[in-house]
Amino acid sequence: MEHKVAVFRKEHFNAAHRLFCADWSDQKNMTVFGPCANPNYHGHNYELVVQVNGMPDAQTGFVINTKDLSNIVQEEIISRFDHKNLNLDTTEFKNLNPTAENIAIVIYNLIRPRINKELDLKIRLYETERNFVDYPA
Ligand code: NI
Repeated sequence: MEHKVAVFRKEHFNAAHRLFCADWSDQKNMTVFGPCANPNYHGHNYELVVQVNGMPDAQTGFVINTKDLSNIVQEEIISRFDHKNLNLDTTEFKNLNPTAENIAIVIYNLIRPRINKELDLKIRLYETERNFVDYPA
């Protein structure tokens, strides 16, 4: 029984964003970021998969209690970002482009302190069905 197990918890949240560099023209922003540069913002249905790897506890058989993991994700991520404009309504993305990459890093950093140090944490974030990122890579 000396083998690590991966535990996954799926959640989702809806949020608006705009990707842009303030010192670029609207045209250059549209060229680089496409519709995600729309000045009036737009929404995504983000699918979040939180992965925790570790040894099952000898007594409970759990790597992590998924109820506890769900509560952590609700408290740290969903309540913070769901139905928010990431650029305007959050401190995390005031000065950070809310790309899927950056959102995944921010989510990792918010959850990591709440997870036992002996457990590994990975974040997978789907911005669309076809576009998703993993952090850490
Ligand atoms: Ni977008």
